[in-house]
Amino acid sequence: MSDNDILIQVRGLGHTYLPDTPFAQVALRDVDLTVAEGERIGIVGGTGAGKSTLLQHLNGLYRPQVGSVVVLGRDLADPAVDVREVRRLVGLVFQRPEQQLFAQYVGDDVAYGPQQFGLMGDALRERVRRAMEWAGLDFTAYKDRLTWTLSGGEQRKAALAGVLALQPRILVLDEPTAGLDPQARLDLLGRLQELHRQGLTLVVASHNMDDIARLTDRVYVLQEGRVVLQGPTREVFAHGDRLREAGLDVPPAALVARTLRAAGIPLAAGALTLAELADEIARWLEGAR
Ligand SMILES: Nc1ncnc2c1ncn2[C@@H]1O[C@H](COP(=O)(O)OP(=O)(O)O)[C@@H](O)[C@H]1O
Ligand SMILES: [Mg+2]
Repeated sequence: MSDNDILIQVRGLGHTYLPDTPFAQVALRDVDLTVAEGERIGIVGGTGAGKSTLLQHLNGLYRPQVGSVVVLGRDLADPAVDVREVRRLVGLVFQRPEQQLFAQYVGDDVAYGPQQFGLMGDALRERVRRAMEWAGLDFTAYKDRLTWTLSGGEQRKAALAGVLALQPRILVLDEPTAGLDPQARLDLLGRLQELHRQGLTLVVASHNMDDIARLTDRVYVLQEGRVVLQGPTREVFAHGDRLREAGLDVPPAALVARTLRAAGIPLAAGALTLAELADEIARWLEGAR
């Protein structure tokens, strides 16, 4: 990874809510994080670990109190840096999409961002149409729908469309599948994979280890605001005890693989999903016959 490919560089980042009050709450401590072009990065950790606070630093919603955040060459600690462009280039989909939707109609909501950047008329309409279709909302069927009548899954897609309409380079998602039914979840995960194939860099925070297994190549594990473990997703998933300490589930595939290995079945380490593990067991059975 050359320096040119680095899109986000976080160094020594600290954040305290309500500092200098009796309610001060340290949310991030000395966090280092790098995101290179085309990567799929996972941020995992239990509730309160600091995931959402970290994500909000990546697109300039928070400026660093301690340490530095450099996004696409712009140092967010520098008050002279305009965060508007950073917010456009780093699209953040909030944990609760209803926090993101504010217009009455879906089409207007998706159009709002590009309008702020001066897009009008046919170009605007086309931008909104494409963003909605990318997010999985049919333009004609949904543009005049009232945002508050959407289901949870549709709301998340509308929020995603609003972010995609700004043509970001990096897509940052906070607990993207929380509250979705299994079908809506798989649909959304598939769309995110497709967006990555089209060239978007992904940063996904989740406490759902299966989402992280399916969606990311490299992860950072946060516990009480600190990075306690990081590396390729496969390697991190093999550290069951450390994950449990951090308040996370051990991914089922890793758990089963470890038990089978302990019983003398020579499976390679690192199956991420149950489907991968099933393939590995099938291969072993072939060889053992
Ligand atoms: N707006 C806020 N005001 C005060 N404390 C907050 C606020 N947001 C988050 N916190 C605290 O900061 C810590 C990290 O929270 P958060 O970043 O939301 O973690 P996560 O997304 O991993 O659940 C928690 O202790 C949380 O209670
Ligand atoms: Mg959160």
